Amino acid sequence: MKHLLKLSDWSKEDILDTLNLADQLKYEQKHGIAHHHLAGQTLGMIFQKSSTRTRVSFETGMYQLGGQALFLSSRDLQIGRGEPVQDTARVLSRYLDGIMIRTFAQQEVEDLAKYGSIPIINGLTDYCHPCQILADLMTIREHKGSLEGLKLCYIGDGNNMANSYIVGGLTVGMKVSIACPNGYKPDPFVLDFAKAYGENFSISDNILEMAAGADVVCTDVWASMGQEGEAEARKAAFAGFQVNDAVMAAANPGAMVQHCLPAHREEEITAKVFEEHANEIFDEAENRLHAQKAVMVKLMAANRR
Ligand code: CP
Ligand code: NVA
Repeated sequence: MKHLLKLSDWSKEDILDTLNLADQLKYEQKHGIAHHHLAGQTLGMIFQKSSTRTRVSFETGMYQLGGQALFLSSRDLQIGRGEPVQDTARVLSRYLDGIMIRTFAQQEVEDLAKYGSIPIINGLTDYCHPCQILADLMTIREHKGSLEGLKLCYIGDGNNMANSYIVGGLTVGMKVSIACPNGYKPDPFVLDFAKAYGENFSISDNILEMAAGADVVCTDVWASMGQEGEAEARKAAFAGFQVNDAVMAAANPGAMVQHCLPAHREEEITAKVFEEHANEIFDEAENRLHAQKAVMVKLMAANRR
């Protein structure tokens, strides 16, 4: 594995090896054991969208690994004025040891990898959010002890998070169910990917049916970054697609909740369910740091100049 462009490029072993390393790095960090695997290296972080967690966890993570991170807003880069991604990729490859990019089109991330010569990490596109799903899988494994055979139910928009839960969950041996309104289904490529997993995958607009027996209940905002203009129409379309007491009663006793954040209380999740599961949700946010450090070590440590 050279990049993290989308999870379907990674095998089950790639994912599990990365989660194991993430656990180890978390242990070392908590016990004050230095792990400067990327000493002297620089990660460029290109942001075309806002971020709290992704920016801070990558920047802090790179520092803890002995390297440094550069925050590169597309508003300030020439790419924001139309410099082609082919040229940006070739230039940045001459300075940096890795790039994390958050943008709209998945193709832009794929093109950076195609034209550049350093590892590229997808920090969210409209299509997927692989770093977030690695953090979620790490958190689920921490709380539940294993992943294989657990049922993960996602309720809400068939967006980047839904796409990544399907690919990541099925790849590591989980059952994945998706409850979404018609017209807001996950990406066709992902639905095609899921076909190979037979009964381990289900999708419907019946929320309680999808949540039945779930070990993990996940959700995300109804309007993603870039969809602000559709927010009102989406509120109507998603009314009822909410993680609430009824959903948690349908899930297995002791089911956990994951939300990538930011959360909109009383829209995709009630404030009550959010607060009852805040510990799991903020563990998930913390694990962005550890999971991404593992990704960076896996992809960048071998490429030391
Ligand atoms: N979950 C997540 O990616 O958060 P940010 O948008 O704050 O980076
Ligand atoms: N689906 C959300 C996730 C934010 C982390 C978005 O793309 O805005």
